Amino acid sequence: MAKQEENIMEKIVSFAKRRGFIFQSSEIYGGFSSCYDYGPLGVELKNNIKRAWWKAMVQDNPDIVGLDASILMSPKVWEASGHLGAGFTDPMVECKKCHKRFRPDHIEDKKKCPECGGELTEAKSFNLMMKTFVGPVEDTASETYLRGETCQGIYVNFENIRESMRLKIPFGIAQIGKAFRNEITPGNFTFRMREFEQMEMQYFVNPKDKKKHFKKWKEARMKWYLDYGMDKNNLNFYEQKKDELAHYSSAAVDIEYEFPFGKDELEGIHDRGDWDLSNHAKHSGKDMQYFNDETKEKYFPHIVETSAGADRSTLAFLVDAYRVVEGGRTKTTESTKEQEVVLRLDKRLAPIKIAVLPLSKKEELTKPATELLNELKTRWMTQFDASGSIGRRYRRQDEIGTPYCVTYDFESKDDKSVTVRDRDTMEQERIKIGDLMDYFKEKLD
Ligand code: GAP
Repeated sequence: MAKQEENIMEKIVSFAKRRGFIFQSSEIYGGFSSCYDYGPLGVELKNNIKRAWWKAMVQDNPDIVGLDASILMSPKVWEASGHLGAGFTDPMVECKKCHKRFRPDHIEDKKKCPECGGELTEAKSFNLMMKTFVGPVEDTASETYLRGETCQGIYVNFENIRESMRLKIPFGIAQIGKAFRNEITPGNFTFRMREFEQMEMQYFVNPKDKKKHFKKWKEARMKWYLDYGMDKNNLNFYEQKKDELAHYSSAAVDIEYEFPFGKDELEGIHDRGDWDLSNHAKHSGKDMQYFNDETKEKYFPHIVETSAGADRSTLAFLVDAYRVVEGGRTKTTESTKEQEVVLRLDKRLAPIKIAVLPLSKKEELTKPATELLNELKTRWMTQFDASGSIGRRYRRQDEIGTPYCVTYDFESKDDKSVTVRDRDTMEQERIKIGDLMDYFKEKLD
């Protein structure tokens, strides 16, 4: 189901702020363009997504290993990779009157400024790499760049990793980390930012087997989004046309998601050929070819890349899970028929797994409820909430996607049991306190 309903994006942005998922960066100073901060629940959600990705790529695949390379690298890396050349630029026009800059493909009238109506310049190329200086002197010798894509750290470590881990082709290297781009037109909340996080895996293959690996990874990556509960009607593949391909790519398929502002790229699966290793070999003078002991073949491995955005995935999972339902789910809205929000996140992604709710603020309930919380929190992210009616508290937990609420009531002491409520079915079960850990292990782990 497409999420094109009016104002849904505005609602999600305001919900994300109100419930502590995502805040505008430097908000007290009026905000800092296209940068966002993940709040207490946002960081849990994003970490769970990154963990899920790491599990699917590294833990589940013995032929894939991890890396955490530095953000700052020698500027020679970016010369070799082609990112300082024409390949990593966007065309841009500038208004002669207000001097604002725009991507020509993002404005309707190519001659007039969309802000003030002033005349626009001819399109010029604008490089997206973010320049910085390393050390105390700001001269050209100390100039470098914040990485524009995380995978370059993988390519320059190809030999270190292959040798130290005794890997044989085909094998993969995975990494999660920040990347930076001077995007001309950032926007749509966290969809296009200047500082963002990527989850990238580079699979090194014999060129002869490339097509097979490309197909396998394309399918595996789509399956990952579906396994974590994304609606399949909101996802599709898009095969890039020749003139849309990045400078390093000889074929690419995007996984697109139907965002409220339209369909757009969530992840790219790229055939990078031998572009990266052969260019780094040429620029560094190091032999980066692979030698197969058995067949005696020597060649530059080709690379099949899966490149996902951690922020875009977080936004897509949030949008996909966000449901506005008619009132009456909880007692608080029964009479008013006020609308309620339920965040139907996959349990593995939910920021908080269990909320512990003593029925009243009396110590005879809060004390044993806290003891219960102390046990549950050794294994899962929990929250304790003792304020407001029980219906209102259920509603607050539904809104942030907590799969289970545990209520400790006046009978709990005598029957040594609590009520467990399920977010999606709203069914309530009476469970013995002594069985609670095993009950949740089965439900959540
Ligand atoms: N290493 C290949 C590469 O960087 P890309 O298509 O330019 O390919 C890969 O980026 C993914 O990174 C995108 O599919 C998207 O999820 C994420 N991404 C790229 N630019 C972004 C931006 N400005 N803000 C947020 N995410 C971005």
